Amino acid sequence: LANGTKAGKTRNILEKMDESEKNCVVFYGSQTGTAEDYASRLAKEGSQRFGLKTMVADLEDYDYDNLDTFPEDKLAMFVLATYGEGEPTDNAVDFYEFVTSQDVSFSSGATGDEKPLEKLKFIAFGLGNNTYEHYNSMVRRVNDALIKLGATRIGKAGEGDDGAGTMEEDFLAWKEPMWAELTEKMGLEEREAVYEPVFSITEREDLDEHADEVYLGEPNKNHLEGNQKGPYNSHNPYIAPIAESREIFTVKDRNCLHMEIDVKGSNLTYTTGDHIAVWPTNAGREVDRFINILGLGEKRHKVISVKGLDPTAKVPFPTPTTYDAAIRYHMEICGAVSRQFISSLAPFAPDDKSKAEMTRLGNDKDYFSEKVSSQYLNIAQVLERVNSSTPWTSIPFSIMIEGIHKIQPRYYSISSSSLVQKDKISITAVVEEIRIPGSENIVKGVTTNYLLALKQKQHGDPNPDPHGLTYAITGPRNKYDGIHVPVHVRHSNFKLPSDPSKPIIMVGPGSGVAPFRGFIQERAAQAQAGENVGQTILFYGCRRASEDYLYKEEWEHYKQILGNKFTLITAFSREGPMKVYVQHRLQENAALVNELLEKEKANFYVCGDAANMARAVSDTLGKIISEHRGVSAEKGEEIVKGMRSSNQYQEDVWS
Ligand code: 2AM
Repeated sequence: LANGTKAGKTRNILEKMDESEKNCVVFYGSQTGTAEDYASRLAKEGSQRFGLKTMVADLEDYDYDNLDTFPEDKLAMFVLATYGEGEPTDNAVDFYEFVTSQDVSFSSGATGDEKPLEKLKFIAFGLGNNTYEHYNSMVRRVNDALIKLGATRIGKAGEGDDGAGTMEEDFLAWKEPMWAELTEKMGLEEREAVYEPVFSITEREDLDEHADEVYLGEPNKNHLEGNQKGPYNSHNPYIAPIAESREIFTVKDRNCLHMEIDVKGSNLTYTTGDHIAVWPTNAGREVDRFINILGLGEKRHKVISVKGLDPTAKVPFPTPTTYDAAIRYHMEICGAVSRQFISSLAPFAPDDKSKAEMTRLGNDKDYFSEKVSSQYLNIAQVLERVNSSTPWTSIPFSIMIEGIHKIQPRYYSISSSSLVQKDKISITAVVEEIRIPGSENIVKGVTTNYLLALKQKQHGDPNPDPHGLTYAITGPRNKYDGIHVPVHVRHSNFKLPSDPSKPIIMVGPGSGVAPFRGFIQERAAQAQAGENVGQTILFYGCRRASEDYLYKEEWEHYKQILGNKFTLITAFSREGPMKVYVQHRLQENAALVNELLEKEKANFYVCGDAANMARAVSDTLGKIISEHRGVSAEKGEEIVKGMRSSNQYQEDVWS
């Protein structure tokens, strides 16, 4: 249905822009919300600094076969994240396929050969991670495709690098020359930026927080009304019972959780190797800190209605709600803070000294890095450090909603086999904590600590909250009662070969072993069912056999079932004078590894840390191939690349 309408909502971007009197649309292709956030920031800056009439648009919400009629006096910006193995984000797939299609054709009848986008002026910024292959390939390919179709880019096609940790600075460094070129080309005039709220916040005297229509953390109407309904997905979690939870490290000072999530009756399905998304709740300690520094203590449970002052502004959570619920369940208050956000808060500082300090933090990259980013401070901690004696009551709540990400579900590699337990999804998660050298700030992972609190609650642990984080796990209308957790499933391409007799080699140190527990559980079940199971080799690494050796007894159990079909090769990194890692063990077993890959076309899997481990494993494999096949180092690398493209080499990695 080209340019058609669905449920009264137009999919025609030009119609939408005309209707809402906009001359600049900022499209985003976003998976975890970062690209969406950058898109909002560009839109806001465009309107406040340069008087553009901007709107933000989800690529998924529009059709593209009328882009050839995009008028010359309007502007399109694209903020595009690259996902996984160089793929578009889910919401950008259709757009990507359209613009890069060999035989693109527009509803006017124009085809690709006629430079149909000659009138289109665009701006592009990509979000990528250089530790992955296909760095920023999404923005590169879209840029090339648009130019090939005749469009004109203004400014550089920017590229931010999450791998190097420079995303924010890359973005800031890219946008100034871009704005300069844009003002010149479009004859815009820069003006003193004045803050204009995007949302109106109305405190509702007529509603009590216990009223039925008030959202207290429920993600949508069905949940509010107490009858959750599928399909469950990234917009609609299933509140699942936790069937079982236990600690699986044997050492006291670190935690690793094993959880079984019961999805029976939900219609949620998974296959071995998929991911489960967990929707976190912020720690009470951080919610309190945020509320207190803004001076919202007295009214934290007041009911508020939030509305977009502009018809294109989307409120990121359902309302009416309360300040407390919005902050606790919907705002990423523990996330990284940007310099631009600090600058935007400076005018609302409680006194001149604080204002000067905020301005300096916003302008001085090195100072900001020393005081804020290197310490991993969250926004409330920054405000506390700048001035903790006066609450920052002048900050409009709207600016906080605009400037802070909406909370995102976190994905974990499922550690069970769908063949063995289709209604029970296992999670294996190390509880995260970052200690920063020379700082008293200890950063607690939002979601893993929430899961830890749920586990302790489930077990009636006498000291359920050793870190003083106080999770509201008796939360909204008692549905998150400590033995439930909101989840959904995301399908992945990280898959066992369909033929179980094919050999597999798995490399998964630490919690990177998660999907491989699922793989081996599955193969053991297949063997028990009389199937012919191929060589199943697991390289596993941890610090010490006595501390963090995950699933030790289970491996023994699977060994009994699979016999010589299963080989576990361990690397205990801290037991001897030298570090021993999985890649060292891979090298020691080079002949076997090479033979299985070359002769038997074994699949090779890597799961875990992307930045160091996965890269080292990939390099080691290239070396092994070069040595054992008598080819050059470059050729060895090329063969590994080829294995990746043919899916013989699969990665499930994170940074
Ligand atoms: P380490 O912490 O002693 O350095 C799981 O985290 C295991 O992965 C640990 O044994 C850890 O060792 C190890 N590890 C750390 N860095 C690694 C790397 N670059 N390559 C492979 N393993 C690594």
